[in-house]
Amino acid sequence: MFTQLERDKNTNARNGIMHLPHGDVLTPAFMPVGTNGAVKALHHKSLKEMGYDLILGNTYHLYLRPGLDVIRNAGSLHDFTTWDKNILTDSGGFQVFSLSEFRKISEEGVKFRSHIDGSYHMFTPENVIEKQEVFRSDILMMLDVCTPPGIGEREAREALDITTRWAKRGTKRWHERIDGYDGKLFAIVQGNFYKELRKRSALELLELDTPGIAIGGLSVGETPAEFHEYLSYTAEFLPLEKPKYVMGIGTPDYILSAVENGIDIFDCVYPTRIARNGTAFTRDGLIMLKNAKHELSLLPLDPECNCPVCKKYTRSYIRHLVKAKEILAPMLVTEHNLYFLANMMEEIRESIKVGNFYLYKQNFLKRYKGL
Ligand code: GUN
Ligand code: ZN
Repeated sequence: MFTQLERDKNTNARNGIMHLPHGDVLTPAFMPVGTNGAVKALHHKSLKEMGYDLILGNTYHLYLRPGLDVIRNAGSLHDFTTWDKNILTDSGGFQVFSLSEFRKISEEGVKFRSHIDGSYHMFTPENVIEKQEVFRSDILMMLDVCTPPGIGEREAREALDITTRWAKRGTKRWHERIDGYDGKLFAIVQGNFYKELRKRSALELLELDTPGIAIGGLSVGETPAEFHEYLSYTAEFLPLEKPKYVMGIGTPDYILSAVENGIDIFDCVYPTRIARNGTAFTRDGLIMLKNAKHELSLLPLDPECNCPVCKKYTRSYIRHLVKAKEILAPMLVTEHNLYFLANMMEEIRESIKVGNFYLYKQNFLKRYKGL
């Protein structure tokens, strides 16, 4: 399902193509997050115009609302939403830990209360595969236990051991899929911030030989130095033949660092979330439109951006929309931010192709961080 193209000589960065049921995806690729079956504040058609062909959905949210019957009734998550390109769904493991008011892990799975209406539910390694099968997700994720930094080695080991046992059950259930459904299963490496555990998790999961592999439990409150250290350490154990996914990262500097370590796909709510709060990417770093200095600025969000928003609107006007809480404000800034990232990913792939990714990264960061 994965073809590697060019490899960078100076780093582990690489270009590739993921072959998925709803079409090929060029990697490295950023995946916008569409938790509830929609990328917040954006039309599907804008996403397509920007070239996105793989977006994310969340099993946790979609199972609780609208529920599996509604999606099954439409045919699939693609039919329900009319998004006819690829969809990756997260298993719900992470969202149960970050959102629900109550949760209890047992060998069988994780019991939790809905953040919407307080009702009780149980996710098991098998039933999250079944849910994602109903969605007909192009990439489906294993149920895992993601732990925060700062916990003891024993607790981290127990979480990882359960994650491995669940991965065995999930893989078995995935092999039993029917109806010609061909979604690709990714296992998720955990192990907290302990190197022996990260290594053990990676090696144990690789034995299951899933089509792809993800690194979870990063960008969960650790320092940037720890993020870089554990990302590069963990990525070293993952084979070149498989696509690699780092979950939950989306700042330009973390994306560059993931690419440098041979990661192929990543996702994060960050670009769309900051957009709704009036923060835009520019090549010279973030700009906050609430800031008074933009009141009279007739510049576009980013003078070097070719997106439809930057071709037309000024900072002054968009700042006014943000202040007046007009719905158009999040729409415009979201479109710009996702265009900016799509463009950055294209530049990254081009730099890998011509062999100067490292230079691209250095130059990008110098400007972005104002160094
Ligand atoms: N999203 C961000 N991090 C994680 C993780 O560790 N596990 C899962 N399932 N989703 C995530
Ligand atoms: Zn723009």
